Amino acid sequence: MIVLGIETSCDETGVAIIRDDRTILADLVLSQLKEHEVFGGVVPEIAARSHLTHLDPLIKAALQDAGLNWSDIDGFAATSGPGLIGGVMVGMMAAKALALVHQKPFIGVNHLEAHVLSPRLLEDIPFPYLVLLVSGGHTQLLIAEAVGQYRLWGESRDDAVGECFDKAAKLMGLPYPGGPNLEKAAATCVDPAKARKQFPFGIPLEHDPGLDFSFSGLKTSVRNTVDKVLSDGTIKQADLSAIASSVQSTIAETLGRQCEKAMKKFNIAYHQPKLSLVVCGGVAANQTVRQTLQTACDQNGFAFMAPPLKYCTDNGAMVAWAGVEMLAVGLTSPLSLPARPRWPLELLKDQAA
Ligand code: KG4
Ligand code: ZN
Repeated sequence: MIVLGIETSCDETGVAIIRDDRTILADLVLSQLKEHEVFGGVVPEIAARSHLTHLDPLIKAALQDAGLNWSDIDGFAATSGPGLIGGVMVGMMAAKALALVHQKPFIGVNHLEAHVLSPRLLEDIPFPYLVLLVSGGHTQLLIAEAVGQYRLWGESRDDAVGECFDKAAKLMGLPYPGGPNLEKAAATCVDPAKARKQFPFGIPLEHDPGLDFSFSGLKTSVRNTVDKVLSDGTIKQADLSAIASSVQSTIAETLGRQCEKAMKKFNIAYHQPKLSLVVCGGVAANQTVRQTLQTACDQNGFAFMAPPLKYCTDNGAMVAWAGVEMLAVGLTSPLSLPARPRWPLELLKDQAA
């Protein structure tokens, strides 16, 4: 079975074609980075127009890369939310039109589910597994029980962790996109342990027994710290790299602590012979976050599963793969499926019923 998947929910136009034996037949991503860079963030209207311009040639190129005909495609999947609604509609309408013309199923994919299932594209991780979803719009601890079936254990009460990376980077004067540029700035810090002492940031919700997150206070602390070291409107390079390093390791430690608590809870709630923590979403590309979570997994007997870097940020392959998984269990969508700016994962189960 072969599925073509389309991702257009933010600023990457992605198209991929994947077979159910995990063979990636085509995988194309066009980043709109340059178009949004001058504005310091994603402009929804520009993103939607750009998807419209680039999607059609990208679909044709993907089919050519895969060496397939339209008749070889068994289903057309597209991100149907959550995300920037203009872009979501562009991708969805393309997949619906292709499905209608070629008389094949349309599969409306929840973007968060695509992230959560993305590591299964590379290997068969058995359900249920623990998930840390860390993207630009979401920070959630979830249990993936089956395709279309998710249980929410904790989430951010305010800013998402990717948003915190982006806003902290902006406050430090780093260019868009914030997360990757903050990681680059932190990499130039010669003594991360000293930086953490020099610019200390509290661990959000440190004494809270639950599994929620909060990142808005950290953002405010970064603003106050930056204000203190600014002289004539600029930050010394050494201060910049030390602050970046301290922010990054504080975020990584925060995520690691909550994951450790969730692992202990998972051990009690589920009797699984193979325990896995899946980390996905754009922030899963951060090496310090990955290393911290790897250590937490090693100490708790969990396998650390994270997609390769290019499948952490938005891409068509994760949507095509979610389409494969959904089609395999008969989860297809009507052509009337709406585009949703918000679409919580834990509601999927009720919607399928
Ligand atoms: O999953 P994603 O590509 O888009 C959403 O669905 O939101 O995640 C984008 C987020 C942005 O906030 C971006 O700054 C962050 O992921 N990000 C990173 C890194 N790469 C992307 N944050 C920290 N370090 C990175 N290397
Ligand atoms: Zn995403």
